[in-house]
Amino acid sequence: MWTRWWLWPLVAVCTADFFRDEAERIMRDTPVIDGHNDLPWQLLEMFNNRLQDERANLSTLAGTHTNIPKLRAGFIGGQFWSVYTPCDTQNKDTVRRTLEQIDVVQRMCQMYPDTFLCVSSSEGIRTAFREGKVASLIGVEGGHSIDSSLGVLRALYQLGMRYLTLTHSCNTPWADNWLVDTGDSDAHSQGLSPFGQRVVKELNRLGVMIDLAHVSVATMKDALRLSRAPVIFSHSSAYSLCTSRRNVPDDVLQLVKERESLVMVNFYNNYVSCTNEATLFQVADHLDHIKNVAGAGAVGFGGDFDGVSRLPEGLEDVSKYPDLIAELLRRNWTEAEVRGALAGNLLRVFEAVEKVRDLTQAPEEEPIPLDELEGSCRTQYGYSGAPSLYHRQGLLLASLAPLLLCLWFL
Ligand SMILES: *[C@@H]1O[C@H](CO)[C@@H](O)[C@H](O)[C@H]1NC(C)=O
Ligand SMILES: *[C@@H]1O[C@H](CO)[C@@H](O)[C@H](O)[C@H]1NC(C)=O
Ligand SMILES: [Zn+2]
Repeated sequence: MWTRWWLWPLVAVCTADFFRDEAERIMRDTPVIDGHNDLPWQLLEMFNNRLQDERANLSTLAGTHTNIPKLRAGFIGGQFWSVYTPCDTQNKDTVRRTLEQIDVVQRMCQMYPDTFLCVSSSEGIRTAFREGKVASLIGVEGGHSIDSSLGVLRALYQLGMRYLTLTHSCNTPWADNWLVDTGDSDAHSQGLSPFGQRVVKELNRLGVMIDLAHVSVATMKDALRLSRAPVIFSHSSAYSLCTSRRNVPDDVLQLVKERESLVMVNFYNNYVSCTNEATLFQVADHLDHIKNVAGAGAVGFGGDFDGVSRLPEGLEDVSKYPDLIAELLRRNWTEAEVRGALAGNLLRVFEAVEKVRDLTQAPEEEPIPLDELEGSCRTQYGYSGAPSLYHRQGLLLASLAPLLLCLWFL
């Protein structure tokens, strides 16, 4: 039969359908958890967050990569919605804008309760799966959103933040971003500053995932070394296939493997092929590469839908996920490996992060030193009255010295 050349096109068509059907069968009980989607930013840009505007109806929303029918067709069962505020808000209204983007995600869940279930735990994701809803979680994209404040960090946790991307495409006073590695930005902290290390400790204590998309390699290595729990790259691809500094180099993939962490692959053409054009097959190459270097347990999806202007042929919007899964099956990924990449790996990492959480530990209190804060429009309450511990110890010694001298002479 195989010698009948005229059968080949038929075989090709049938197997294509076979893998696509298999993908759908698997995704019906293991839907995809995507690490990064910028729909909330689109809602701000298009409607200034007015969800009741008719054109903002998520059932019919046009011109975006994401809407309710597309999420359904793509078997999206979990979504980390990106709470993003651009770097030019740093030292300005960044906290206000972060809160507004959290609010728009929460209102999305309230307006479309049949579609979205806002959750903040791995158990919540499983509940949404059972109910056939899109588990909706908050990932805050950019350390500038905490405005160098552990108090803001904790408040964002209370509002549902379950990952924090340590930087966007700008340094914070306490962590360096990827543009340091391209030479477009000066190294400031050489990775994480002492305050940045306290941020990582506090994220561990709270049970918030540490996201290393957008950070410099030095920051990646510092965080991977320091964190007591696995970390994620919510939307980054493989550097050895496309040498963009937004991607993860192989030596870091090795650390990802050791730390049982996760790389959720970004679909942006310029991070997939390093050109303006890319295909679904090239995205599958990235998934294969990460699997080969870091193991199948390190692979996930972070499409960056609605955050990018160019997407691969075959992955034009969130509805196309089953085609990508079909391609992995065609490449001999086992069903278990595929289920891991879809959801199991993220759930494993999230559960490990929840396990490390220890709210009985004392919170980090030591603020960033005043001279490391930037921006001229800040007030200095707290700093003027209560110098930092380090200064206080110095002052204490200085003020005690005369007393000690007196005691000596007595
Ligand atoms: C969105 O549009 C659909 C169909 O046109 C309608 O049934 C639904 O009530 C609308 N939803 C909201 C929240 O306006
Ligand atoms: C998948 O496995 C089959 C059978 O073992 C083999 O013939 C085929 O070459 C493999 N395909 C890929 C892409 O590795
Ligand atoms: Zn991003």
